[in-house]
Amino acid sequence: MIKRIIADLEVAYDHKPHRLDHVFGVRDIALKFGRQFNCNLEWLEIAALLHDITKYESEEFHRTMIKQYYDDAEMILNEYNTNILHAFSAAVVARTKYGITNEEILNAITHHTIGRPGMSIYEEILFLSDYIEPNRTYESCVRVRKIADHAFVKAIYVAMQDSINHHEKQQALVPNTAYQALQYYQHKLEEQE
Ligand SMILES: [Fe+2]
Ligand SMILES: [Fe+2]
Repeated sequence: MIKRIIADLEVAYDHKPHRLDHVFGVRDIALKFGRQFNCNLEWLEIAALLHDITKYESEEFHRTMIKQYYDDAEMILNEYNTNILHAFSAAVVARTKYGITNEEILNAITHHTIGRPGMSIYEEILFLSDYIEPNRTYESCVRVRKIADHAFVKAIYVAMQDSINHHEKQQALVPNTAYQALQYYQHKLEEQE
C-alpha cells in the first residue's frame, strides 16, 4: 500500500518536488510523534502520505467530490474556504482509490488543515506535523517546532492561534471550527498546567 501511494505521489506531484519534500517531511515528523505516543505507525504513515494528494486538483474537483461523498456537503462548502477543501477530497480519494476505511486515517486527513475540537491523537499528530515539518521556514513554524519538542498540546494551541491571527490579518475567512478548536485546546492546555 505504502509503495503504491508513493509511486502515485510521484505522478501527482510531477514538477512539484517541493510538495513531495513537504509530504515526506510531514511523514517523518508524524512517525516521530507516533513513536512517542505509541501509535500505529502504518496508519500515521498512510495518513501523512495521502493528506495533500488532491492539493493540485481544481476547486471544481473538490466541490464535486464533497457533494458526492459527504452528507453535510452544503455545510462544508459554506464553512470552509477553497484552501481547506483539498483535505476533504483527499479523504475521499483515500477511501475510494485506496480502499481505506480506517476512521483514524480518514479523520486525520480530513482535519489536517485547521484541526477541530477534540481531535484524536492521530488527528493531532497530522495537524501538528503538517505545521512544523522541516521544510517550513516561516517564523511561526520555527517557534512552534521548538515548543513541540517538549510540549505537544501547547504546540497545537500556538499553531492554531498563529494561523488564525495570520488569516485575520489578511482578512481571510476563518471557519468557526478553527475558533472552536482553539478554545478546546486552550482548555486542554489549562487542564494540563
Ligand atoms: Fe494540506
Ligand atoms: Fe500539507
